[in-house]
Amino acid sequence: MTVSVSAPGKAFLIGEYAVLEGAPSIVTAVDVRAVAHVPTDEAAPPMSAVVRCAHARAIDYLRQLGGDIEIDLRVPLVDTGRFYLGTRKLGLGSSAAVTAAVVGHHLAAHGLDPRDPDVQRDALELAMAAHAEAQGGGGSGADVAAAVLGGTLRFAHGKAESIEPLPGLHLGFVDAGYPAITSELVRRVREGEAAHPEQYAAAMEVLSAAARDFIEAYVTEPGQVPDPVELQARFERIRDASDRHNRGLRMLQDMAGASFVTPEITTIIEQAEADGLAAKPSGASGGDLVVVMATDRTALDRLSERLQREHGLVLRTNLVAHAEGLRAEERLPTNSRLAGFFKLSVAERREAVARSSGLSLERLAELDAGSFDVQRANHMIENVVGTMELPLAIATNFRINGRDFLVPMCVEEASVVAAASNAAKMIRAGGGFAAHSDPPWMIAQVQLTPRTDDFDAEGVGDRIREASAELLALADEAHPRLLIRGGGARDLEVRVVDPAMIVVHVLVDCRDAMGANLLNTVAETVAPRLETLTGWQAGLRILSNLSDRRCTHISARVPPDALAGKGFSGPQVARGIASASRFAELDPYRATTHNKGIMNGVDAVVLATGNDWRAMEASAHAYAARSGRYGPLATWREGEDGWLEGRMSLPAAVGVVGGATRTHPVARLALEILGCDGGAELGQVMAAAGLASNLAALRALATEGIQRGHMGLHARNVAASAGAEGEEIDRLARELASQGAFDAAAAKAALNRIRRAKPAA
Ligand code: MEV
Repeated sequence: MTVSVSAPGKAFLIGEYAVLEGAPSIVTAVDVRAVAHVPTDEAAPPMSAVVRCAHARAIDYLRQLGGDIEIDLRVPLVDTGRFYLGTRKLGLGSSAAVTAAVVGHHLAAHGLDPRDPDVQRDALELAMAAHAEAQGGGGSGADVAAAVLGGTLRFAHGKAESIEPLPGLHLGFVDAGYPAITSELVRRVREGEAAHPEQYAAAMEVLSAAARDFIEAYVTEPGQVPDPVELQARFERIRDASDRHNRGLRMLQDMAGASFVTPEITTIIEQAEADGLAAKPSGASGGDLVVVMATDRTALDRLSERLQREHGLVLRTNLVAHAEGLRAEERLPTNSRLAGFFKLSVAERREAVARSSGLSLERLAELDAGSFDVQRANHMIENVVGTMELPLAIATNFRINGRDFLVPMCVEEASVVAAASNAAKMIRAGGGFAAHSDPPWMIAQVQLTPRTDDFDAEGVGDRIREASAELLALADEAHPRLLIRGGGARDLEVRVVDPAMIVVHVLVDCRDAMGANLLNTVAETVAPRLETLTGWQAGLRILSNLSDRRCTHISARVPPDALAGKGFSGPQVARGIASASRFAELDPYRATTHNKGIMNGVDAVVLATGNDWRAMEASAHAYAARSGRYGPLATWREGEDGWLEGRMSLPAAVGVVGGATRTHPVARLALEILGCDGGAELGQVMAAAGLASNLAALRALATEGIQRGHMGLHARNVAASAGAEGEEIDRLARELASQGAFDAAAAKAALNRIRRAKPAA
């Protein structure tokens, strides 16, 4: 029986205001999902109005169906974590998605397939009625339609019709940085309408005409793929309609005296327009998201990079349009808040992981020693004589962008996992980590040197730049499968690093692969053409491990209460951590140790998931020195409200396909436990483990010092080395910690005392 059903969020492409006056709109389902599932033993949260109404209507419907089915009357729990960024909820129609997921859950629990168009038709009717009842009417219903049906919809007069997305039009959603208060904006519009009916009518006319023109240019016949000339013509009409929509919004703004087109939205639109792209707020405006449209994926990525670097505005790559509607999920949302996990036995921990991740216990048996045997090892590298095992642990409490993760960590150092879990709990108290990722661009380098004494590096550089398009096409020929996955060569850079040396960079979007092999192939593929083009000699042809175009950006806010302890108040700890951060910013000797603490967390996840930790290390440290002076990767400040704020950018050239991620059974299992959506999300988990490790270390250093906690946990190592077995290990460790003596002789003596004191069996 299906236990879990999800529904997507939504974003408007056009017509969000015009639809209220009967004009058509286009809404697309966005792949952040509300997930309804049977309640587990967790305490049920208070039932919201949408859940209550959706539950009641679905139960009524099932009763009317009759038959001899037994109706499950339990109210499902709904996870909406994906709609959050830290503590901020994105305006993606979460209440509609919740309504749809609850209805879908009940129908699926009684044997109906939530993907079946007939089932969806009934689900839509139920969800529309439930949502309107819970919200007291007022909405267009487009959000509910997107949540149930998914895809992209033309929506007017309460009726949704599925349409094909325009092939070749790429969409990106840029975050304007703060939430829009939709109900307040709509109220101001309604007041404005009453006070200035003519102004209102004029604005609505502009918005409605823009919506109609946009839709005419957007809608294609099923299966029809416009040729490049037609696509360009359609795009220009879409851009023009978006412009007019923005003008209509400004008219509404003047009429209602409310801020619709905020400075951030203006920046995004202006920057997009400067690149010839189309952009308009998606939804009520006044904050939240701006949809940017382009016929060239690279142009969108370039804009994203510039918005982030120059304006701190982020294109949210996790917001994928045209998402599937209602669907059953195999896996329940993970709950990483496993209280007392550290006190359990290994077998009990596996049970807890299985329960929380939805994986079977048999699957977790892969974690038994020996699952990676010598034969497999012998195929992986050369001259194998055996394998070497390291502990694999699970760090708890991690919540990133509203989603919980059980984080596998492979590391030999005591206290790393406990510290990361503990700090993740403090960060969770502030809403969890907020993270986003650059597009997965990596650099393939080709070195060129002159063959004769007579050379002109600048002239040669220009010749290469002029041939960019041809060279990028050549690079793409080397990797047809990467193109199918949506990646490919994106840009070409020419660097004259010396009058007698040119370095050509081919920037390649590697999607979910780490990319080393494919980048090396690209470098080797374009090198001969570069030689004939320039007459210069190609030297090295290899990727750059400085993956500074593929960073993960992560931040966390911690309430002071969560930091308090060890005889220190929260504000004292926050101040101490901010001062420790300054120390690292001012002194490379400290920055190195600070970053070592970050890499404790990062590398443990890199290793557990079979990624290349040497590449990660090399890149992280080169990035830490990018200003010419080695500095801390993560920094911490006390915010105006007294909360501690941490942030970090970390190059994250990691993948979920290829290499040991597939061939090592434990790495494969670690990836399954994590359940990441792709390489970008995996990079975010690694960065979160790094930031948490840093917080834990700085908190200890700024209070009681590192040794107490560290040695307390290290004591278990010492106890095991002294020959303690089973329960003796914890007992001896406790004794060593209380004595404050951790050397081998003290351990042996204490072990003998424990054994003598033990009654004979
Ligand atoms: C030890 O593995 C890591 C620390 O030295 C990090 C730091 O000093 O920030 C505790």
